[in-house]
Amino acid sequence: MSKKILLTGCAGFIGSNFVKEIAVNEKGYNFVVLDALTYAGHYPTIQKDIEGNDHLSFVEMDIRDKESIEKLFQTEKFDGVIHFAAESHVDNSITNPNIFVETNVLGTLNLLNSSLALNNPDFKFVHVSTDEVYGTLSETDPAFTENNPIEPNSPYSASKASSDLLVRSYFETYKFNAVITRCSNNYGPYQFPEKLIPLMISNALENKSLPVYGDGRNIRDWIYVADHNRGVWDCFLKGKAGEAYNFGGDAEKRNIDVVKTLLSVLDKSEDLITFVEDRKGHDWRYAMDFSKAVSDLGWKPQVTFEEGLKKTVDWYLENREWCKEVQKS
Ligand SMILES: NC(=O)c1ccc[n+]([C@@H]2O[C@H](COP(=O)([O-])OP(=O)(O)OC[C@H]3O[C@@H](n4cnc5c(N)ncnc54)[C@H](O)[C@@H]3O)[C@@H](O)[C@H]2O)c1
Repeated sequence: MSKKILLTGCAGFIGSNFVKEIAVNEKGYNFVVLDALTYAGHYPTIQKDIEGNDHLSFVEMDIRDKESIEKLFQTEKFDGVIHFAAESHVDNSITNPNIFVETNVLGTLNLLNSSLALNNPDFKFVHVSTDEVYGTLSETDPAFTENNPIEPNSPYSASKASSDLLVRSYFETYKFNAVITRCSNNYGPYQFPEKLIPLMISNALENKSLPVYGDGRNIRDWIYVADHNRGVWDCFLKGKAGEAYNFGGDAEKRNIDVVKTLLSVLDKSEDLITFVEDRKGHDWRYAMDFSKAVSDLGWKPQVTFEEGLKKTVDWYLENREWCKEVQKS
């Protein structure tokens, strides 16, 4: 019988790409996609993939709803979980931190408890986390390894760090078969236009100003979403219980340079850039040492930043309606 895997948060950016690139092709598994369809989740993004594939199905549910999650696990008897669902926008966490704790911490706890209650020795849980749990680097610090201390600086990263630590504790305490992925900034198709790259593309296309925090010199590593998702799937198939794996795109860029590159690709003027008051607690630099994923999983990023950005811009140019639709809901 096919293994049944729960995929949470797959009406959002990274998860919807996972459905399209991996789940639809992995016909030896049954995937149940769960999403609460918050402002960041858009069912039409994955509707055709779900309805066109017998091995995929969808359930609208909130991971904060403990009773419903428990019932779902008892009925479906999952063999594994890949957990993408989260409140994911740092700016929102600064204005409304509570929902970040409710979804990212308590929601994850509900999934862990319901998974554990199945008592299935072959169960596997992949927790999708972020490089932001490590805090920030200076220009000269070496890149984050999995051994860096967990020192989150925003309510978002603190909530992700808390859920990472819960997952880790379930491995240590119950020998629960869980793996954690920590990844740098993703970009690609279907990203909600609140995040840097799609926001800048959308604004530039409408000749609106492009708000850049501080002096724009903060550094992020950028990974194309398909590369990240291959890593998540590798972790599901080959990741060792209790381990965390870093993923990065080998593409450290200053925010201002990303914005200028986008303007140049779109043939728009740099006059659209407006520097705005810096984000509170803004991390200076993220950089990833992903050598463990290379040696232990045989993973490496395949899409260069230039290639990925071109694909992303082309996608947004061809899908302006999608952007308008998701912003309405
Ligand atoms: N975007 C990045 O650059 C990045 C980088 C590293 C890690 N991550 C992590 O990857 C995961 C996915 O990120 P994303 O960028 O796709 O986020 P997203 O905001 O685009 O999507 C999140 C999805 O989760 C769903 N969701 C939110 N709260 C829920 C709840 N209570 N119950 C059920 N579903 C709920 C939303 O409806 C949405 O479909 C997150 O865990 C995030 O922390 C993201």
